Amino acid sequence: MDVDKNPLREGLQGERVPAPTTFVIFGASGDLTKRKLVPALYSLTRDRLLPSPFNVVGVARRDIPQETFRGQMREATDKYARRRPVEDALWQSFSEGIFYVNGTFEDPATYQRLKKRLDEIDAERDTAGNRVFYLSTPPSEYPIIVKQLGAAGLINKDRSGPFTRVIIEKPFGHDLASAQALNKEVHEVLREDQTFRIDHYLGKETVQNILVFRFANGIWEPLWNARYIDHVQLTVAEAIGVEGRGGYFEQAGILRDMVQNHMFQFLCLTTMEPPVAFEAEAVRDEKLKVLRSLHPLPATPEEVAKLVVRGQYGRGFVNGEERMAYREEQGVAKDSTVETFVALKLQIDNWRWAGVPFYLRAAKAMPKRVTEIAIHFKRAPHMLFGKQSRGRLDDEPNVLSIRIQPDEGISLKFFSKVPGPTMEVLPVPMEFRYGTSFGAEPPEAYERLILDCLLGDGTLFTRGDEVEASWAWIDRIEKSWAATKATDFPNYASGTWGPAAADRLIEADGRHWRKP
Ligand code: BG6
Repeated sequence: MDVDKNPLREGLQGERVPAPTTFVIFGASGDLTKRKLVPALYSLTRDRLLPSPFNVVGVARRDIPQETFRGQMREATDKYARRRPVEDALWQSFSEGIFYVNGTFEDPATYQRLKKRLDEIDAERDTAGNRVFYLSTPPSEYPIIVKQLGAAGLINKDRSGPFTRVIIEKPFGHDLASAQALNKEVHEVLREDQTFRIDHYLGKETVQNILVFRFANGIWEPLWNARYIDHVQLTVAEAIGVEGRGGYFEQAGILRDMVQNHMFQFLCLTTMEPPVAFEAEAVRDEKLKVLRSLHPLPATPEEVAKLVVRGQYGRGFVNGEERMAYREEQGVAKDSTVETFVALKLQIDNWRWAGVPFYLRAAKAMPKRVTEIAIHFKRAPHMLFGKQSRGRLDDEPNVLSIRIQPDEGISLKFFSKVPGPTMEVLPVPMEFRYGTSFGAEPPEAYERLILDCLLGDGTLFTRGDEVEASWAWIDRIEKSWAATKATDFPNYASGTWGPAAADRLIEADGRHWRKP
């Protein structure tokens, strides 16, 4: 189905057009710029959601001519844009607004050159001095870039006059202390509402739909609590390994790479109280309350190990293809103890969730790619049909699964009578699928988030205090792991669902992992 013709979408777009802006990307020669940022900007242009005029200024070390940079961006857009094939005439006008400034991020002269160029562009193209700076560099460069932007007079901290906003890529710090230090440095130059900490999972349609599903429908709220929910499973499984990012991953591990940010964000959306409004501060206040209610982890590594299981992939087969072990990946130490799998159990100490366990799993080199939230409801109080269900009423209660990706959708499993002369009972799904209902693929997460930033809407970005609260919890695990290095790595084969200890973690509670 053509998205433009889908009647369900009629009248949905059009009002959200931001003011003319120049979008400056630090780290313009990097992978993210090519794979995500410029293709997203092009797709937004194609959807007529960007203002006119709109400028993109790439900043990177290499000294290359502007035309070369434009050519590279065209190539990347041809390859990665959602809206393809790229239309020549549209690209032509879009690319007239693409510029390039070279220089190192430490050098104050880079910012003087940038400032001069931005002023010229404003004059030539009649843009009003509104600027978004996107930090897509190694995280170690964030403090210096923010500082230099401030020193060069490139940040307008006032609420009047042209706006300045800064988008900061993840990871925002690597533990609580570094996140606090970075927040401090950022706040010396920027107001909090000018700071857009990006977590691309919040830009995914299905992640946003968690809020719509919960709060636009009256039927779930009465059930959404410890009285009716037995437990919740959150899974982010990736079939890929570290894909050439071994060097980065050795510093991070999957707990920092996926759980502290992406998984905690959708944990928050799944469990938070209804916000008073769908507006940045109200939504983020509620998320923060969840993070602050996480049951504290025990103090000793032995006790932590009962709640958190780590793993690392060895060789194996994923989709019939042989995969090397993590320790064989480029940039990875031969005796690395960095985790590529984590399974953990947590509890939220508040009125709604007291006593409900949340089981989280994040992993690389799994049998398939799947991200889902599965709400397992309690079984019916009295089993009228127990004998006829072949044990399923006990083993597989009602499960509501929210599929974040792929095959985006929501499915509710309930029991049904099997046609025939007996009262045999089997589970059946009730399904909603994005693809079927709305047609076409959803926009890329970066499109939505960039657009929101241009509009000054921080609802789908992470606030400084949220980041700190999530690090505070994650730090306990990192410290306990640092104190007791893993001795059994690799402990799962690529293409399997992780180490046996992860099964024991949940089975000890009389439950089992879903195999999505
Ligand atoms: C990134 C992580 O934030 O998210 C990667 O650094 C991971 O390790 C990626 O592969 C997953 O994103 P997506 O959108 O493909 O699920």
